Amino acid sequence: MAWWQRLRRKAPGPFVPPHPWIDMHTHVVPAVDDGPETLDAALAMLRAAEAAGVTHIVATPHYAAAFDATAERVAAQFAALANAAAAEGIAIVLSAGREVTFTETAVRAVTADQRLCGRGRKPWVLIELPEGLNRGAVIEGMFALQLAGVTPVLAHPERHSLVVQDPALVGELRQRGALAQLDAGSIAGEHGTPVRRTAQRLLEQRWADAVASDAHGPRGYETYRGACERIARLYGSDYLQDLVSTGPARLINC
Ligand SMILES: [Fe+2]
Repeated sequence: MAWWQRLRRKAPGPFVPPHPWIDMHTHVVPAVDDGPETLDAALAMLRAAEAAGVTHIVATPHYAAAFDATAERVAAQFAALANAAAAEGIAIVLSAGREVTFTETAVRAVTADQRLCGRGRKPWVLIELPEGLNRGAVIEGMFALQLAGVTPVLAHPERHSLVVQDPALVGELRQRGALAQLDAGSIAGEHGTPVRRTAQRLLEQRWADAVASDAHGPRGYETYRGACERIARLYGSDYLQDLVSTGPARLINC
């Protein structure tokens, strides 16, 4: 395109938040992981999400050795948050999920205890891949989950060294039935240039199914909105709609 044509090209209009806007990965349940420590801090996160334009949140506390909250405690804290949010008039629709750190034991736990899954048309689970895994182990683990009827959703694969080295691994896992959720912070460059470039590559190749905040505090929602504005500007609002609305809606049934 010649320079005069580029000048004449219409500037993008103001950002219109998608509707519904579903954030399917957040740490907003108080005092169960490295998210907010108090109910008030969790409510502040929900208000920040609402101000950013988010309409639905799937709360996904960590399920990992470093955090020992039981399923009962997570459920009780989630209920306390949902009640307090309703009492405060916060209109965000909350649902429950977990972010499960991938180990053989965790895969067995997910297949045995569906409380670790998000609810929707069928059970699904966010899977965080720890460093030190090899490709074969990842592929086998994803297969085991699918055999148990659970859809694995890769949490921020763009941050994993295997994917930074070879983004096509995400394409391969998606062909095998897994989904991929990218983090807003990766798109914003908060995890360094190689991760930002990997996220960009996954978006360009259409190897992403969702973009979520992975917020641990209110500031995460500024980053989330900024990342979504950037996606709309670079790739178009239809693609953003797929990533934060239509795609996640297929999972959570809203
Ligand atoms: Fe997370």
